Amino acid sequence: MEFKNLIVEKKDGIATLKFNRPKALNALNSETLIELKAAGDMLNADKEIRVVIVTGEGDKAFVAGADILEMKDLTALEGMAFSARGHQALAALENMEKPVIAAVNGFALGGGFEVALACDIIYASDKAKVGFPETTLGIHPGFGGTQRAAKLVGLARAKELIFTGKTIGAQEAYEMGLLNKIVPQDQLMVEVTALAEKIKANGPFSVRLAKECINKSLSLDNKEGLTLEAKDFGLCFATKDQKEGMTAFVEKRKATFTGE
Ligand code: CAA
Repeated sequence: MEFKNLIVEKKDGIATLKFNRPKALNALNSETLIELKAAGDMLNADKEIRVVIVTGEGDKAFVAGADILEMKDLTALEGMAFSARGHQALAALENMEKPVIAAVNGFALGGGFEVALACDIIYASDKAKVGFPETTLGIHPGFGGTQRAAKLVGLARAKELIFTGKTIGAQEAYEMGLLNKIVPQDQLMVEVTALAEKIKANGPFSVRLAKECINKSLSLDNKEGLTLEAKDFGLCFATKDQKEGMTAFVEKRKATFTGE
């Protein structure tokens, strides 16, 4: 499938999905959101792909937010539809049945930061700047930021970020718990690829079910969460990968997983 605003590359079981509107600092217009959902669904269905990396084209921006030019004259109903389009696109990342890593290579603001928050793990360049400038524009985050940020850093920190609209550097974001790791700019893709390789070497089905259990822990109570965990844990024993993983341990060799 051809994309106008995204570049999708696949190599050795790892896909890289790159936002590619550098003239607008990769801002998310409706066309890009629709493409993002299609690309997410496509990579989800691709059995060869075990890990997905999301990043931005160029040195300056991951994504500088939703497209302000497109939003400027929206009606209330159109605003709701635009937000829903963003939710659908980001759900394709959050619910993908394989890990998704954000490689934040520059500005990740507003909807751009919300894309990163929908990913499973965030590595950022030391030059990255993140935040929610929406309130400086007379709106508030609309692609999941009001929901996902608080779950990550707590209500008070999320409120401070969103109410002030301030942009913060990678170090402050890391200390707040918004990022997994800060990496020198020129090493970002090297480190993210090494992380993807490490995850790729593990049992794909077990990683997929672990993602499901962890994501659902945010909405299930402890009893329901543990019931899901026991069910998914049991399901692992229906796979060849579980037999291979444990046999390899006993035989003192490295396991080779096939995803079956
Ligand atoms: N939407 C549309 N165009 C954007 C954009 C955006 N979010 N961000 C940057 N651009 C465009 C600029 O208009 C500019 O285009 P022109 O060259 O045609 O004028 C080009 O990208 C380069 O940007 P700047 O000249 O502004 O670059 P800079 O280095 O001076 O500043 C920046 C960089 C601080 C990131 C600045 O561009 C900026 O503040 N961008 C907007 C950030 C923002 O407010 N994001 C939140 C949007 S709202 C949202 O995301 C809602 C939601 O939750 C759904």
